[in-house]
Amino acid sequence: MTAGERLTAELGAELDEMEAKGTLKDLRIYESAQGPEVQLKGLGDVIVLSSNDYLGLAGNPAVIEAGVQALKKYGAGTASVRFICGLFEPHIELERDLAGFLGTDSSLSYVSCWTANHAILDALCNKQTHVFSDELNHASIIDAMRLARPGGKSIYPHSDMAALEAALAERAGVARKLVVTDGVFSMEGDLANLPRLVDLCEEHDAVLILDDSHGLGVMGETGRGTAEHFGLHGRVDIITGTLGKALGGGAGGFVAGSSELCRVLEQRSRPQLFSNGLPPTVAASARQALIELRDNPHLVARLRQNTATYRGLLTDAGFDPIPGESAIVPVLVGETTRAIEISRVMLKDGVFVTGFGYPVVPEGTARIRSQISAAMEDWQMERAVAAMARAAVSVPV
Ligand SMILES: Cc1ncc(COP(=O)(O)O)c(C=O)c1O
Repeated sequence: MTAGERLTAELGAELDEMEAKGTLKDLRIYESAQGPEVQLKGLGDVIVLSSNDYLGLAGNPAVIEAGVQALKKYGAGTASVRFICGLFEPHIELERDLAGFLGTDSSLSYVSCWTANHAILDALCNKQTHVFSDELNHASIIDAMRLARPGGKSIYPHSDMAALEAALAERAGVARKLVVTDGVFSMEGDLANLPRLVDLCEEHDAVLILDDSHGLGVMGETGRGTAEHFGLHGRVDIITGTLGKALGGGAGGFVAGSSELCRVLEQRSRPQLFSNGLPPTVAASARQALIELRDNPHLVARLRQNTATYRGLLTDAGFDPIPGESAIVPVLVGETTRAIEISRVMLKDGVFVTGFGYPVVPEGTARIRSQISAAMEDWQMERAVAAMARAAVSVPV
């Protein structure tokens, strides 16, 4: 057996093991655009509760048209990285509008928020840097810290502000302190304690980096995110976020902050130097999504109302969702295999929602995570909750 054949056999065994444990993920194929109700190959029409398309903009005609026009005008891209071949007008417009929306001087786009988080931590860390990170931060932040290799790091228990304060006090002499947090935590749907984080950073001379991927378009009166929700718009040093959720649902990410920060990132953050920029069609669609959000603040209000309706329906059906203010509504169901089975049963019943289990969440806290959209109608949420109730009964604990 060659080394290549041996590797293939080992990987095959790994897949068999996942299948035997019931944890193998099978991916769905869409035959329509994303929305509250879609067509899935082999399954027909289903209601979607597993997308981050919080504002229903992924299939919005103006968002689609902006991408089409940019594709026609600019083609697929420069076939190079930005520092060699430059960028297109849609990048400039998107980055300017994102900064305006978030109340920062400047912003810089990347092909994903995963990349943006890697870029910022890598660019800001050196041996004189200490990073303080919430234990439930997104995987991109965890991996970014590993790659950036700061002088030191403290992982504080989830939202434990006393632990963070103690860690900051212990590192009083460190030259550069970076506190990094998700705005909305994706598995629980809860919010970072931003008021306390802002205060602690001010008191301890630390820079705050907020990944607001699940907060943008969702939190705050006008969807400007977790900072707006807490009345702290403009008070966060650096914001990262994705364009792959509420802001168009395609792909892309960004860093927003001072113009010096964005210029330095453009000069020397590794993904800018060694990887292509955002395709212009995606930049144009994301910018249009931002315009839709800015011109239609009722979308944010509608999302909030839908989330309250959905929570109410769940409670009436006997479920006990994890409390929270975001558009993420998790219901704990016990073991991983049960969560996966419930989501399978629900899919057959016409509702597409994902079950999350170990290792994404701790053992025994597997969950059905619903994500609500402003585009959902009441009847769709009613049908979804009825399907969850039937599935929960049919899959034993
Ligand atoms: C908090 C957070 N940060 C970053 C990301 C990564 O975003 P992207 O898909 O743009 O890489 C996600 C996506 O799941 C996320 O939830």
